[in-house]
Amino acid sequence: MTVSNGKVTTVKLKEMKKKGEKITILTCYDYSTAKMLDEVGIEVLLVGDSLGMVMLGYDSTIPVTMDEMIIYTRAVSRGTKKALVIGDMPFMSYHVSVSESVRNAGRFLQEAGANAVKLEGGREIACTVKAINDAGIPVMGHLGLTPQSVNKLGGYRIQGTDEDAARIILNNALALQDAGAFAIVLECIPAPLAKMLTEKIDIPTIGIGAGIGCDGQVLVLHDVLGLYSDLSPKFVKRYASLRLKIIEAVSQYKLEVKSGLFPGAEHSFEMDEKTLGKLC
Ligand code: KIV
Repeated sequence: MTVSNGKVTTVKLKEMKKKGEKITILTCYDYSTAKMLDEVGIEVLLVGDSLGMVMLGYDSTIPVTMDEMIIYTRAVSRGTKKALVIGDMPFMSYHVSVSESVRNAGRFLQEAGANAVKLEGGREIACTVKAINDAGIPVMGHLGLTPQSVNKLGGYRIQGTDEDAARIILNNALALQDAGAFAIVLECIPAPLAKMLTEKIDIPTIGIGAGIGCDGQVLVLHDVLGLYSDLSPKFVKRYASLRLKIIEAVSQYKLEVKSGLFPGAEHSFEMDEKTLGKLC
């Protein structure tokens, strides 16, 4: 059995890879949005630590804490019936010791209702991935441009362009697969490398700036909807310009309040004149 109560499972994602059925993933950070994405049938909602930038206004994902991730993940879980919910482990929550990493990963399931966690890194975190997976917590890997390492990488730039760097990414993918990861995000690497890697490993690859050859795609929802304007990576496709729509709507609200047009009679509650008269 691969799907229970219509809920997407990690087993179902592996089956989708086998069948060549593309996997859709979007980031999600709140209850109301989770309900919409779930209704559409997006298979995986990723509560990415990108929320630090698009929701909390940090200039990177590094300041994001476990407690912040738990609050947002809990909200998404409440709004989700079918999609697999993945909590993104924030910077320093899986670097100090294996036991602390397992405990933090467990919080996503126990306190926040997530179904899996995501960690950035390759061979160097393979032991941690194995320990978390052994504790019954499915793990998604993340290779290529790993934003928590932005200081080491020297900026948000394409990875794996020369032979050595590409080989490291390939070896890291194999290490994550061996450690029990159920899928791997490939961020900002050349499309031919992602395609080759996707054909070499058995678990699904999820691309973001990694071309068409991956088993699935993920994007930050705020980029897709045109809600976040601080950064605009080449790999983003904007499907709506909601920022403009919101500015338009809020400007109209302001205008109507200032001019006395809102609230109208249809938005107000009446009271019997006699009752009112008794008060005067
Ligand atoms: O934090 C995030 O949103 C992510 C995705 C971009 C993969 O890690």
